[in-house]
Amino acid sequence: MNYRHFYHVGSFADVFKHALLVTIIDALQQKNKPFCYIDTHAGIGNYDLTREETQRSKEYLQGIDKLLHAQDPLPDLKHYIDLINDYQHHGDLRCYPGSPMIAKHLLRPDDHMIVNELHPADFNSLKLTLGKNPNIHCHHRDAYEFLPAILPPIPARACILIDPPFERTDEFSAILRCLHYCFQRFPTGIYMIWYPIVSLQHRPFTREILREKLAPTLVSEFTLTAIPQEKSGIIGCGMVILNPPWKIEKIIGDITTYLFTLFKKDNSGHYRTELFTNEINQRDSN
Ligand SMILES: C[S@@+](CC[C@H](N)C(=O)[O-])C[C@H]1O[C@@H](n2cnc3c(N)ncnc32)[C@H](O)[C@@H]1O
Repeated sequence: MNYRHFYHVGSFADVFKHALLVTIIDALQQKNKPFCYIDTHAGIGNYDLTREETQRSKEYLQGIDKLLHAQDPLPDLKHYIDLINDYQHHGDLRCYPGSPMIAKHLLRPDDHMIVNELHPADFNSLKLTLGKNPNIHCHHRDAYEFLPAILPPIPARACILIDPPFERTDEFSAILRCLHYCFQRFPTGIYMIWYPIVSLQHRPFTREILREKLAPTLVSEFTLTAIPQEKSGIIGCGMVILNPPWKIEKIIGDITTYLFTLFKKDNSGHYRTELFTNEINQRDSN
């Protein structure tokens, strides 16, 4: 396990992922019924942007820092932006909450959270960061064994974030295999699967997930430049959302378009947000 999120924290990819996470949790909280947030690859929860490794890559300068300085930010991003600003102790951008801390911040008294992290040191940091809370449970397991094992959750209204490091060459097929088990146990959950775009190789994943017809599926993604044929560094990212909340596609589409425009490097990138219902997702999507 070589991946360390503190090199990439606050990047354009984190902003996209976390802005969508806040949007989905907001949608779930429109109903006065408790829900459960599940995070399969939780990371450490809190990131000090001044730490040496983060300062070496400074990816947050092209991500969250850029968004916080945007002249006219999209109103749909206000909740996420406020959350990040509130998280700062002294005004300046010095720390950044990971997905479990963002969710914890949004949790209502009856909502629950189950988080998982495999890296031993990161798991210990995560537990310390989240603190003792009877509604929050931390697991130290392999994500693909953990997730089916805890489903269905209580309460059985849940949003599940699957955010792997994509170190394994078979990560996409591991996710697909895992989703099969998960849907047998919990077909009504909202599953959010984040993926990087480094070449054309992500296309079979989105195509395959649509072919499975597991549930209505929203695909939203953008690239900052044209997609190279061969593997490069990360040039874009996307989110597949299975069972998206009703009518969420408009807000997700607006957020994706806005972030693409804010972060793009030239005019060769692309963005898209498409909703596939069970009837239409037989068609091949790229
Ligand atoms: C992209 S980071 C997670 C970032 C976090 N979700 C966030 O948004 O703040 C991926 C995390 O997955 C952990 N990880 C790697 N392989 C794992 C596995 N098989 N099961 C669970 N966690 C794993 C890594 O240690 C890393 O902390």
